[in-house]
Amino acid sequence: MTAPLIDPFMRPITYLRVSVTDRCDFRCVYCMAEDMTFLPKRDLLTLEELDRMCSAFVDLGVEKLRITGGEPLVRRDIMTFFKGMSRHLDSGALKELTLTTNGSQLHRFADELASYGVKRINISLDTIVPDKFAAITRWGKLDNVLRGIDAAQNAGMRVKINAVALKDFNDSELFTITEWCKSRDMDLTWIEVMPMGDLGNEDRLGQYWSLEDLRGQLAQQYTLTELSERTGGPARYVRLEETGQKIGFITPLTHNFCESCNRVRLTCTGQLYMCLGQEDMVDLRAPLRASESNGPVTDAIRDAISKKPKGHDFDYSRQRIDGQMSRHMSHTGG
Ligand code: GTP
Ligand code: 5AD
Ligand code: SF4
Repeated sequence: MTAPLIDPFMRPITYLRVSVTDRCDFRCVYCMAEDMTFLPKRDLLTLEELDRMCSAFVDLGVEKLRITGGEPLVRRDIMTFFKGMSRHLDSGALKELTLTTNGSQLHRFADELASYGVKRINISLDTIVPDKFAAITRWGKLDNVLRGIDAAQNAGMRVKINAVALKDFNDSELFTITEWCKSRDMDLTWIEVMPMGDLGNEDRLGQYWSLEDLRGQLAQQYTLTELSERTGGPARYVRLEETGQKIGFITPLTHNFCESCNRVRLTCTGQLYMCLGQEDMVDLRAPLRASESNGPVTDAIRDAISKKPKGHDFDYSRQRIDGQMSRHMSHTGG
């Protein structure tokens, strides 16, 4: 058996996040500028290359694959890729195949995704008010996402809602979103806005709503019990005693969860980022293309993991955003 991937800080790397496209059919204001220049299609890994690359990671002990974007479901023929990856679920090498989506196309693909073994799905949704949804995504239709959620649940998938906490935007919906998730039996995780990508005029410090504050507001209405469990993800959880709901918080800027980090990120062009909050990356496309055998890319992956940094460099503590990443979240898929 091949040796598993262990980084210099003795963290086993078992989780690969794969961005399959930088494109998206929305332009969420905290994520993208309205006028985005996307990568030329020829720069993207082909579906065959994505399959080879992900299979190489699975051979190296990766047990969880999360497909992201941009919006993964806008990539043409992406179901072919999911179908291919399902063979690793069937063989038992892969434990989880999943995706993070904006939900806009989900009603078209939910049944097929379920048939390929996708059991859980994370849907990014920051508001449940149609006009506000159109505003934050710049033109998205909430109804399509709601149809997608129905389709996913009808197909038997467990749905988690990811909401980015935004001041003067969804702070007023804290309780309605919580209750809505409860009524639909969906998990809910709040994410603090992160300094990624140049957004032109968007004022990200103005958008910043700390999860500490959010949590304080929740605590006025509910009894919060801190849960000690860690799911291998960055979220920390509380249970609302009155409803039994589990609510997650992802606070990359105020809470350091790097010490148990188990993941790396592959961009749609085949670069491997060892940390969401660092610019260090290793190109895997060239070694993949250099040979029909997986030898060179496997070596390159091992080499990359041996360079995984200890943690990230974000810093919101001053008046400006230090450590802003020039790369967009959609490039590495969050
Ligand atoms: P599960 O734990 O499998 O539900 O997934 P997840 O929370 O890791 O995945 P998801 O795509 O839902 O991630 C939600 C958001 O968490 C991402 O968009 C990022 O904003 C943030 N996030 C995920 N992984 C990391 C990480 O390693 N570091 C930091 N700083 N943030 C992360
Ligand atoms: N900060 C925090 N979350 C972000 N997302 C996109 N851009 C940012 C940002 N700058 C979120 C999306 C989605 C996930 C993949 O990343 O809303 O939930
Ligand atoms: Fe698209 Fe997600 Fe970025 Fe919104 S946050 S523009 S849905 S990639």
